[in-house]
Order: sequence, then C-alpha cells, then structure tokens
Amino acid sequence: MSVQYRLLLENAEQIVVVCSKEEDFLLEDGMRNLAILERGSMVIGHDGLIKAVGPADSIRNQFSNASFENIINCTGKCILPGFVDAHTHPVWAGDRVHEFAMKLAGATYMDIHQAGGGINYTVEHTSAASEEELYNSFKHRLERMLRAGTTLVECKSGYGLKLKTELKMLKVIERAQRELDIAISSTYCGAHSVPKGKSAEEAADDIIAHHLPALKQMVINGELHVENIDVFCEKGVFDLESTKRILQEGKAIGLHLNFHGDELNPMNSAELGANLGAHAVSHLEEISDEGIAALAKAKCSAILLPTTAYILRLKQPRARDMLNAGVIVALGSDFNPNAYCFSMPMVMHLACVNMKMSLKEALAAATINAAYSLGRAHTHGSLEVGKQGDAVVINASRWEHVIYQFGGHQELIEYVVIKGKIV
Ligand code: NIG
Ligand code: FE
Repeated sequence: MSVQYRLLLENAEQIVVVCSKEEDFLLEDGMRNLAILERGSMVIGHDGLIKAVGPADSIRNQFSNASFENIINCTGKCILPGFVDAHTHPVWAGDRVHEFAMKLAGATYMDIHQAGGGINYTVEHTSAASEEELYNSFKHRLERMLRAGTTLVECKSGYGLKLKTELKMLKVIERAQRELDIAISSTYCGAHSVPKGKSAEEAADDIIAHHLPALKQMVINGELHVENIDVFCEKGVFDLESTKRILQEGKAIGLHLNFHGDELNPMNSAELGANLGAHAVSHLEEISDEGIAALAKAKCSAILLPTTAYILRLKQPRARDMLNAGVIVALGSDFNPNAYCFSMPMVMHLACVNMKMSLKEALAAATINAAYSLGRAHTHGSLEVGKQGDAVVINASRWEHVIYQFGGHQELIEYVVIKGKIV
C-alpha cells in the first residue's frame, strides 16, 4: 500500500490545542485560548500540514485504512506546538563574556554601551567576520534553538550599521532560510545603534536615503526575503522622531514594523507603534498606562523579553497589566551577546516566575501570540488542521513540565517536528 501520510503521533497523554468553543472563531488568531486534549493523536501529511488532531480513538477509526511513513507512540508523552521565538539577534561574531562580569559588578547596559562596548563591540567583530564564519556560528545557534523546541524564529540584522555589513548579515539569514528546516522571519535592524560620529538624525537620513532603497531592490529581485524592520528606540540611541521616520519609510517599502521600545527609559514607543500600525513593540519595561491601552486597542503585540530584564536587573515588564488590558503578549528569547539564551522553555519559566504569567499564558505567548507578532498566526503557533505540522514532543505525562523544569530540557524534549519531519 502506498504511504499516504508523513507522520502519526499516536496516543499522547496530552496535546495542547486551541479551544474549539464556537466563540473562539470570532476572535483574532493571536488571542485565542489554549486547551488540553487528554489522550490524543495527530496526523501530518506529505505537504507538511496537519491533517487531523483529536482523541486517539477517533483518529484510530478515521485513519484505520491509512498508511504512514512514520508512526511515533506517544504513550507517556505530551505534544505541544513548536515554539515561536519572537525576538532574536543571532548573527554576530565576538561574544561579550567579559562584559558579564562588569554587569555583575554594577555597570549598567548604557554605561558599557557609551564606553564603546555593548553593541559597538559586536559591530566591530561582525564587520570583520566573513559571511562564511557568520553563517557557521549562526547555524550552530539555530540548531541549539531547535533542540530547545523552537520551530519558527525571528532573526535580526543590526551588528553592521553600515549598509555593506547589514546586507552581509541579511544574506546569512537568507541562506539559513533556504538551507535549514527551522522557519525564519527576517528583520532588517540597521538602526540598532547610532554609528560613531553621527547623530541619530544623520543615521536616520542615511538609512532612509541608502539602506532602504538597496534593501527594497534586493527584496524585489528575490535575493532577500526580509519581512520586518526594527529600530532601537531609546534615550541616547534613536529618539522618537528618528524612529518614526525610519519606520514610516520601512512601512512604505512593505516591511512589518516590529521594534525595540520603552526598554530603559519611557519613550512613548508603544504609543508610536500603535499609531503607525506596527505588528509589535519589544521590551516595554518602561511602558506607560497610555501605551498599554494603545497597544490593546491597535492589536499591536507586546513582545516581552524576560531574559533581558533578568540579566540587566531591570524592572520587570508589566505583563499582568498588559494581559488584563487585552494586549496580545508574545515572548522572545532576545538571544544576543548580552542575553545568551537559546531556550524558549527557559523564557517561559522566567515569564511565569518573574512576570507572573500563568503557565497557559506563557505557552500562548511563546506559540500563537509570537506567531501573530510575526504575521504568521495563520500558518504557525498552534496545532490545528491546515496549519504547518510543527510540534514538540516531551517525555512527561503533563505538558507543564516544559516550563516547570528549568535547565536540562534536552532530556525532556524527545522530538522536535517540523512539517511532519523529525528534525
Ligand atoms: O534587545 N536593546 C537593544 N538590543 C538588544 C541588545 C543587543 C546587544 O546588546 O547586543 C536587546 O536587548
Ligand atoms: Fe533585542
């Protein structure tokens, strides 16, 4: 008999699915609730899409005459959607392990940045590295993310600042998009820091006059698949006005707005994001009440980054206030030389303990809401018929173990599945 389906995940103790209450269909993708299906199975087809997810008995009956390329008995295991990491800076050379001790001794992020360290240090090393070197270290980092259950990741440029190096980084991301299984949402982040000797205004002029037209042409030619534009909107970096100019121009060339804001100082970045129709604003430790209301109204997601608040000992983002106001809260690892964390399970753990999110809220933020922030909620972020067959199978009888256990999740995560393929 010919093989009809790619994968059957059979008889799991629990599968985390999206609520199927009727009213859910009236809600935005990013706001739907998660539900737990006890004793379930899931089928993924050769096109990589989910064909069925439901009670094990009914799947067994429905597919009794079908054949599968691969069958995995999930007795004693749970199935979760593949994790979506909504914010990372994974292409660079030159780690900053030396700055870790400085920070522990009391130096702030901005002290180090203004002394020429921080992003500037990474820019120097990344500019000097070859495309091949950058690709190899990037690929290794993506593999570590994948091992931790991430199946879709947003990846930023931003350690070039000069056009040539920014494009080098974007080409590295492009190669990974073509060659690797993990899905990538690519972000141009040329406004990550103001180059030495320039003002924010001059840097914005240069980006608008030179970077964005070059980027637009490469996207039109199909040489690059860049979806988002990011700016570090911060006191001493890009002020609100320069941020606005860059984002408006980015929007004009068809990019989704997804930027850093209200991290170290209140900047009204959230209000700006809501006004400009941004997909997301990240960080938001210093968001105002008005900013929270504006994000909720505009359905602009808040990407919270618990690793950064943790490592820099910042005020925790007000996740509870945002959730109570109806903001679509997403999570990201913020993997970068400052926050060296690949793991969404760790991020969810920190979000629950430090930001007081519930287990289900954290999982939704690391799956469906993160997909929403990247404009991918229709294909990623939940186990639903018709969506991409990306899943994480853990060796535990309750799904919450993936957040409850912190560290060492390599042993807990038994399979990572992308488009029905065990990767
Ligand atoms: O999201 N805040 C700006 N960007 C990064 C840090 C990048 C770096 O320090 O290299 C962040 O935390
Ligand atoms: Fe960041």
